[in-house]
Amino acid sequence: MEKKPYVKPTIVRHASGGILNKFGRPPQTVPTKRIEGYAVEELAAEYGSPLFILSVRELRQKYRDMNRAFRSRYPNFQISYSYKTNYLKSVCAILHQEGAWAEVVSGFEYDIAENLGVPGNQIIFNGPYKTRDELKKAFAAKSMVNIDNYDEMQVIEDIADELGEVLEVGVRINMDLNDPPWHKFGFNVESGQAYEAVKRMVAGGKLKVVGLHIHTGTYVDDVSVYSRAAEGMVRFYSQVHERWGVNLKYWDLGGGYASQNTLHWAYLPGEQTCPTFDQYAQAICPILMEGNFANGKLPRLFIEPGRALVDEPFSMITRIVAQKRLPTGARAVVLDTGMNMLSSVQWYRYQMQSGQDSGTTVEDTIIYGGLCMNIDVVNPSISLPPVRREEFLVIPHVGAYNLSQSWQFIYLRPAVIAIEEGKVHVIKRAETREYVQEFEELPEDFNF
Ligand SMILES: Cc1ncc(COP(=O)(O)O)c(C=O)c1O
Repeated sequence: MEKKPYVKPTIVRHASGGILNKFGRPPQTVPTKRIEGYAVEELAAEYGSPLFILSVRELRQKYRDMNRAFRSRYPNFQISYSYKTNYLKSVCAILHQEGAWAEVVSGFEYDIAENLGVPGNQIIFNGPYKTRDELKKAFAAKSMVNIDNYDEMQVIEDIADELGEVLEVGVRINMDLNDPPWHKFGFNVESGQAYEAVKRMVAGGKLKVVGLHIHTGTYVDDVSVYSRAAEGMVRFYSQVHERWGVNLKYWDLGGGYASQNTLHWAYLPGEQTCPTFDQYAQAICPILMEGNFANGKLPRLFIEPGRALVDEPFSMITRIVAQKRLPTGARAVVLDTGMNMLSSVQWYRYQMQSGQDSGTTVEDTIIYGGLCMNIDVVNPSISLPPVRREEFLVIPHVGAYNLSQSWQFIYLRPAVIAIEEGKVHVIKRAETREYVQEFEELPEDFNF
């Protein structure tokens, strides 16, 4: 009988804990009366409701934890924060202070990073749509550009001609890792498209492949997806290294790491199923360390987390504006916020707590947003104690995508504050009607 290969033993802390019941967690009867030391009603009185609140301490801690988990397993490692998740200047700046580089997917995001002083060679430029001018600027600044498609490849070859240089590029690849697979971005490995793309670039002689990039999806809570992505990356690299002598400066495993929010279709609560950073790192790093490196030099490993860094450090205060009984007898509560500010309600069953003492008798409740739209439901079913008009709810873990995907629809967007060491900073002022209408014109002809 053949002996099994040796596998290094590892101890990985498991994330799950606490009390499990039929609904996955105990009822939410403990109110959240203070956030970072400040009383909920005082914050709302001072800065308005709804209100986003960033715990800077938590954000820094997330970065440090994630960085440690990966760097301790793979020395040449760098986090590039995915701007699209939340590109408030303060959020990006705090993460850059901690050591993050930037990952951007549009010229607009590129400019935010540049404006914050991120050096060009610390910006990764991804995405399916980059204009010629944006690409030119990125190459001039020595940013890492990951090619998404053949049209883009051709534009970059033209830029190489114009500049009279061979340009270093990364290639975005995708693999059949999820159901449905993420085939929209980059070149597929299994079908041979990725191999053909590298062949095409080598044959063109104008581009030099120095990077490989994959982003397997978002809220990927199955760490084996990352292991398979890493294995595929190592295999693909070996192929192009052996065939054309491609030597990588970096490989990039993208984002997708989950947060503790719960998806609508999940059976157990997110805080019990969300993998730890150690579990993700352990799924990826040992596989990459086995790669076939040129001169024994490890390519830099990038990851591009978004949600896993910024979701949990943000919470939202929202005011209850009405309560009602539905014909079914169910209790419903209406908030002063809605899916305009919480677009992630499409995916998440947001937990929330009362912002004041409300008693311990819970009732199954539908939480409606305040938009005049039937689909504006913030949580279709949550056990909540009695709450009244003008009282507050606190929704934790709202930092990912909600601000960058917010819509200005019938209400103005609220303020965002950041609290660090007891000090409150307004990092985005609440919108005004004048601001929203600033670029509108009312031609004389239409005035009445
Ligand atoms: C290329 C790329 N990198 C990183 C991310 C960040 O993903 P997440 O917020 O799931 O970590 C995204 C988001 O979809 C992405 O498209």
